Amino acid sequence: MDLQSRIKNRLNEIESKGLKRQLSSPKGIDLSSNDYLGLAKDECLKNAMIEAVKREGVGSTASRLLRGERDCFREVEQKFADWKGTENSLYFSSGYQANIGIMQTFLEKDDVIFSDELNHASLIDGIRLAKCRKELFKHFDVEEVKKLLNETECKGQKFLVTESLFSMDGDIAPLKEYAEICRRTNTNLIIDEAHSVGLYGKKGSGLIEEFGIGKDVFLSINTAGKALGVSGAFIAGSNQTIEYLINKCRSFIFSTAPIPAVADALMMAIEIIESEKKRRGELNHLCKYFNQLLVENGFDAPTDKTQIVPIIIGESEKTVAIANKLQAEGFDVRAIRPPTVAEGTSRLRVTLNLSLSEEILKEFVEKLKDICKSV
Ligand SMILES: Cc1ncc(COP(=O)(O)O)c(C=O)c1O
Repeated sequence: MDLQSRIKNRLNEIESKGLKRQLSSPKGIDLSSNDYLGLAKDECLKNAMIEAVKREGVGSTASRLLRGERDCFREVEQKFADWKGTENSLYFSSGYQANIGIMQTFLEKDDVIFSDELNHASLIDGIRLAKCRKELFKHFDVEEVKKLLNETECKGQKFLVTESLFSMDGDIAPLKEYAEICRRTNTNLIIDEAHSVGLYGKKGSGLIEEFGIGKDVFLSINTAGKALGVSGAFIAGSNQTIEYLINKCRSFIFSTAPIPAVADALMMAIEIIESEKKRRGELNHLCKYFNQLLVENGFDAPTDKTQIVPIIIGESEKTVAIANKLQAEGFDVRAIRPPTVAEGTSRLRVTLNLSLSEEILKEFVEKLKDICKSV
């Protein structure tokens, strides 16, 4: 069989399982972007970026270690670190690139990494690249984590990696408990704050701030393409940790530096998040309202009332059919299917954001209820 025939067969297999993926542009009311605070289209961010393009041009022209370095990267990295409460940070073009890079940089042969079974694909792929022993633990199972960290023999370093707010379930990890266990067992804690940076804590820097566990965290990953409204990701940690990344992290070293103008947009995003607490308050209100509305209408709502709300349907085909009908009604909600989530747990992933209102959400739930009855 030639390669094109094999690819065709594989695509047919995917389609027969109801798992075919297609690219489709935004349409209708936004219930699926990660632009939680509405910063992606904010005038201040747009202007900051336009001015920076005029100053810096478009492309960075080389990697950061060569001619791609710019003062604006260092400035935004220091600003991010001050906000996050760490000594330093390093900006990557994407969270995926950051997660691939950190594992390969810090994990050595004699180490062991403990990872939540539901961690994001970018963390999983990063871990796959590491040569050390890997142990999965049940999602949020503190007792299992305790046992594993206490009893696993390890000649090198132990690491625990978790998301703080899980991207597909919207639930919040028991970070305080993990921090304490890690402290007692000399385990290095890595936290992916992709969906919490910008939203939690007094300053809005994330759940590490909210739980007050900064001192117990080895490093955090903070994507900048979600609540921060731009793109890329900051790894936040100590000066030495960042210096080591600059020297060892292959996905940082061997890649063209990001577009310089994103740094100026991110400076603005951090300033707005810090100073405009109202935005976070409004989002929080929508989270409570929508979760309550789901319960009142007979749907299961997650225990943590966050901005990510999975509505579990189960079968992939049924989930896609419901999503299509909702889209036809003007609601841009997407079906999430395996392998992104476990078999039998296909879902609509609703993400709340500041373009929404109570009225829109009410109308959405009414339509959802009708459609679920008819599919
Ligand atoms: C938990 C988590 N980590 C990392 C990433 C990757 O970030 P990026 O989209 O910037 O590559 C994502 C989302 O895409 C995510 O949800």
